[in-house]
Amino acid sequence: MNSNPVADYGLDLSNLPAHIAVIMDGNGRWAKKRLLNRVKGHEKGADVVRAVVTTCREIGIRFLTLYAFSTENWQRPKVEVSALMSLLKKFLIDETPEMLDNRIRLNVIGQIERLPDDVQVEIRRAMHVTAHNTGMCLNLALSYGGRSEIVRAVMEIATGIEKGTLKVSDVSDALVEQHLYTAGMPDPELLIRTSGEMRISNFLLWQIAYSEIFITQTLWPDFTKDELIGIIKDFQGRERRFGDVAPPDKQTS
Ligand code: IPE
Ligand code: IPE
Ligand code: MG
Repeated sequence: MNSNPVADYGLDLSNLPAHIAVIMDGNGRWAKKRLLNRVKGHEKGADVVRAVVTTCREIGIRFLTLYAFSTENWQRPKVEVSALMSLLKKFLIDETPEMLDNRIRLNVIGQIERLPDDVQVEIRRAMHVTAHNTGMCLNLALSYGGRSEIVRAVMEIATGIEKGTLKVSDVSDALVEQHLYTAGMPDPELLIRTSGEMRISNFLLWQIAYSEIFITQTLWPDFTKDELIGIIKDFQGRERRFGDVAPPDKQTS
């Protein structure tokens, strides 16, 4: 597959979000509805991850950020955390050939050092072998928290000031951005959350300043390619003003 989109699904290809971020929520409720263990929901959720990654790559999205495990998710029961870690490891191993075929670069964002050693090994391996890919960047947010990301940026900048390599007057939006995990990437234009919760849950706090938010009631394991396309179409119909007024009013003022 080359980097040109192979399918447009009726989308306006001149107005695609460069970056889509997704809070993949609702795996537990999906399982509960079926009287299954929560882990079954996570397993089904992993299949949906594959479908969403493939669709985004196919239509030409340049950056896709998926929230897979938050800093707060460490509080969950040990069995659930370890099942999630096993699934993650399996995903990294199984999906590497597909990522290579589709020229996808994997980039893990978050506190990698808190993850189990065997998962860290697979992350480093998958990131290394896909590092040269330019088709799409897949950011997987693992042990990720927006606040800890900002604290980390502040510490790096403060260290620079302490050492004398930076001045207080150098501190700006752009400098903070350079110290985030997403340094150099466009901010997500579109943020999707599944399963209906009207909250951000510590995801990309800095980067979503002007993201268009779409919350669907669909539980993540039931989320489909068609729904994703529909959400991108909805995004394309929105008027993004960034605090300014819409063009006709601007001309008459
Ligand atoms: C999202 O599904 C996956 C992770 C947070 C790892 P949940 O496990 O949060 O599912 P619900 O919200 O309990 O339904
Ligand atoms: C957010 O979902 C984190 C991920 C999707 C990885 P949660 O289920 O952890 O969030 P809350 O607890 O509903 O806020
Ligand atoms: Mg949840």
